[in-house]
Amino acid sequence: MGALYRKFLKPLFFKLDPEQAHEVAVKGLETLGAIPGAARALAAITHLSEEAEPVELFGLAFPNRVGLAAGFDKNAVCWQALAGLGFGHVEVGTVTFRPQPGNPQPRLFRFPEHEAVLNRMGFNNEGAQAVADRLAKAPGPGKRLIPLGVNIGKSKVAPLDEAVADYLGSFQLLADHADYVAINVSSPNTPDLRKLQEESRLRELLDELCRCNARREEVRLGSSKPILLKIAPDLSHEQLDDILGILIDLKLDGIIATNTTMAREGPFADLTEAGGISGAPIREMSTAMVARIAKLTEGKLPIIGVGGISDPDTAAEKLDAGASLVQLYSGMIYEGPFMARGIAKALSRKMSDL
Ligand SMILES: Cc1cc2nc3c(=O)[nH]c(=O)nc-3n(C[C@H](O)[C@H](O)[C@H](O)COP(=O)(O)O)c2cc1C
Repeated sequence: MGALYRKFLKPLFFKLDPEQAHEVAVKGLETLGAIPGAARALAAITHLSEEAEPVELFGLAFPNRVGLAAGFDKNAVCWQALAGLGFGHVEVGTVTFRPQPGNPQPRLFRFPEHEAVLNRMGFNNEGAQAVADRLAKAPGPGKRLIPLGVNIGKSKVAPLDEAVADYLGSFQLLADHADYVAINVSSPNTPDLRKLQEESRLRELLDELCRCNARREEVRLGSSKPILLKIAPDLSHEQLDDILGILIDLKLDGIIATNTTMAREGPFADLTEAGGISGAPIREMSTAMVARIAKLTEGKLPIIGVGGISDPDTAAEKLDAGASLVQLYSGMIYEGPFMARGIAKALSRKMSDL
């Protein structure tokens, strides 16, 4: 399947502007997912059935360890087809409380010689209400082929001091439809967003979200949902220590490491284009982050490892470093949408050989 993608689809996609190619891919998957029974039928072929290595985490059943990272399906339009293609979970979003167009184009760039991507999309999305309405019409938690994460971020128009209310607004609209909620404070493309990784701001934000989550359960508005924090790979050791302290104090369910990097190293040292780099160049730094988190938390905080995964070995590297699940995005641009299936199969074989 991967060879078919590389031979036929990839040359076509790579002739298009990267964002256009992305839109064509999303539209195609959306159309596929809208055919009644298509995702389930595809899943019957691709879902590894007897070869699968299911994982139980945060009280959720993941059919395999390989998920799709946030940013591909920003408006939750094609996750059902992606489930059929073999992803063990999909994280939709980032969704913001207010609908917003994102940054001016061009804002997505490929670097094939380095298997890298640079983006400064800026959370282009239809907003929390529109995404909640769409998810309300789709199969809900417990009725899906795979767990669905909903990743939320700050609206560009919300000043930093109003960030908590902005996230809470999105959380209240979307939590019912999510199997887990990811809190994104690590995108480099929304001014000041990464300041929410600072200790006092982060503690306030997560504390309010955890309280809101608990209250929903108390007043039977809905059940509480696992909450995960998504972090940048560019944090210093001290910043990471502070963040882990907060997550442990507040008993957060897990951490997603990592988002894209702002660093400009090696072949990118002279690159002046703004945005976050992903793909192969961030593999080592995000694996190092996973390993450090696992060590500092003595393996007690579930980790989703993401950054530069393109094959079974790079996925296994994250698991060996301490991740329980992995996610990928940029690798799919180069290897195609069936890669999750191949990686999940290889990983379950590797696990059973141990
Ligand atoms: C085009 C593009 C858009 C992205 N958008 C988001 C986003 O909206 N929210 C988010 O949390 N991460 C976003 N990411 C980051 C990915 O989820 C992932 O953390 C990062 O790309 C590292 O994984 P990779 O090397 O497998 O791509 C985006 C990445 C890319 C390439």
